[in-house]
Amino acid sequence: MNNILKIAIIAYLIGNFSSAYILGKLCRKKDIRNYGSGNAGATNALRVFGLKIGIIAFIFDILKGFVAVKVGKSIMGFDGGLVAGLFVVIGHNWPIFLKFKGGKGIASSLGVMLCLNPPITIICMIIGFSIIAKTRYVSLGSIVATGLVPIVGLIMKKPFDLKFFLFTIVLAFMAILRHRSNIKRLLAGEESKLGERVD
Ligand code: G3P
Repeated sequence: MNNILKIAIIAYLIGNFSSAYILGKLCRKKDIRNYGSGNAGATNALRVFGLKIGIIAFIFDILKGFVAVKVGKSIMGFDGGLVAGLFVVIGHNWPIFLKFKGGKGIASSLGVMLCLNPPITIICMIIGFSIIAKTRYVSLGSIVATGLVPIVGLIMKKPFDLKFFLFTIVLAFMAILRHRSNIKRLLAGEESKLGERVD
């Protein structure tokens, strides 16, 4: 099989491993997608199931992004990492095993970017966490941090790497696409804040 296809399939399947969904089912016998924001991700796991499950889901989602890129790199170098990074987030957001209703890809994008370029990631992560700490809107911090990745990458990645730049644009685009409902709630002043529990 062609290497790109092989990496895309492996990464997509890794992305399908939805920790928020699995933990919800295993620990609370609930489908997270029917509660809170309906998102199968760490923020909603925190909101619906509490701190412990939220943190575990966050760590697992970061790890799966990181691991997928490691696998891609081991098969095809940095470009393989880009292919894996793209498809692990697609797998997380639109998982075939969950009827294409997954998460928003922020924690997995964080894992992907940490494996591809730690300095750019850490800068964007610090900005994102600062916004979350100040406003308590996880979605706002996530959108701004992911949206900043192409810009910070443009400044910091020397020499300029067109494939990496386009990759970060797609990553940011997917994040914004998946946060459409959050953006509407933010604009209407109806977005839920970090620390608010939903049962
Ligand atoms: O990473 C997802 C986060 O930005 C928003 O999640 O559940 O509030 O829609 P949620």
